[in-house]
Amino acid sequence: MRCIIICNQKGGVGKTTTVANLGACLAERGREVLVVDADPQANLSLHFGVDLARGEPSLYTVMRGEDDPSDVVRQSAVEGLRILPTGVDLAGLGVELSGERGRLFALRGALEKLQQRHDYVLIDAPPSLGLLTLNAMCAAREVFIPMQTQFFALQGLGKLLRTVRKVRSAVNKRLRITGVLACMHDSRTCLAQETLDEIKKHFGRRVFKSVIRKNVRLAEAPGFGLPITEYDPECHGAQDYRALTREVIAMESAEQRRVEQSAPDAVGMLGPPRRDRRAG
Ligand SMILES: Nc1ncnc2c1ncn2[C@@H]1O[C@H](COP(=O)(O)OP(=O)(O)OP(=O)(O)O)[C@@H](O)[C@H]1O
Ligand SMILES: [Mg+2]
Repeated sequence: MRCIIICNQKGGVGKTTTVANLGACLAERGREVLVVDADPQANLSLHFGVDLARGEPSLYTVMRGEDDPSDVVRQSAVEGLRILPTGVDLAGLGVELSGERGRLFALRGALEKLQQRHDYVLIDAPPSLGLLTLNAMCAAREVFIPMQTQFFALQGLGKLLRTVRKVRSAVNKRLRITGVLACMHDSRTCLAQETLDEIKKHFGRRVFKSVIRKNVRLAEAPGFGLPITEYDPECHGAQDYRALTREVIAMESAEQRRVEQSAPDAVGMLGPPRRDRRAG
């Protein structure tokens, strides 16, 4: 299983759009995919037509240990693609868990309890480096960073990279940045091209060759509760996400080798979070 957090604390760069559409394209290629909405804005849930009321079973109740994740996961409109949805109550989780010992591992513990096996788990992170993003970094092995090819794209990146390094050295030795994705790219402007060159200078081969162009169909699809493969399967947006998916699939064997070679991480040595142990 590849567990990937799609993250950038900068808002509106294409994180949710990438989780929804990469997830759908991976399912189209026969992979079993779970997308996890770890953002209290619940945009990913809405993208798949799931609009939860406060108090309904969700990632929030799962992370609090009140619901079994397998009972909360829903089938999406796409075969092979499931969603672990969230609602607005997730916003309060940081404060509620602040005193708990296993607070960084609530998401990881929840994903480990899932009965259904998945080839891919894609976690949609909120635009912050708070507790929810840290939980996702503790659960994942890979980080994909979507970036908008516009001025300020690289601003704040140092903080994100330092956070990944800290999580890696303290609790999750297997975490790596394996992909950087240019989103909402407008190749007609010099600024977009120059920003893409800058991103490549920083990240080298980790930048995906595929670039997600600006495409209004990608912005329309969430309003219909559908990923782009269902909403408009032939548009540029669908083509771009399919090209990205081919690259992601091509990485599979290298990632498998890395998993086999990697030593057990600190989380494994610490054992499951306390809440799990109490549950027996
Ligand atoms: N390639 C694209 N072309 C046109 N519009 C896009 C594209 N990608 C995303 N959008 C639109 O841009 C907006 C921001 O995208 P998205 O919600 O995916 O960003 P985000 O990083 O998840 O935002 P947040 O930080 O708020 O969670 C949305 O309205 C989305 O529909
Ligand atoms: Mg989002």
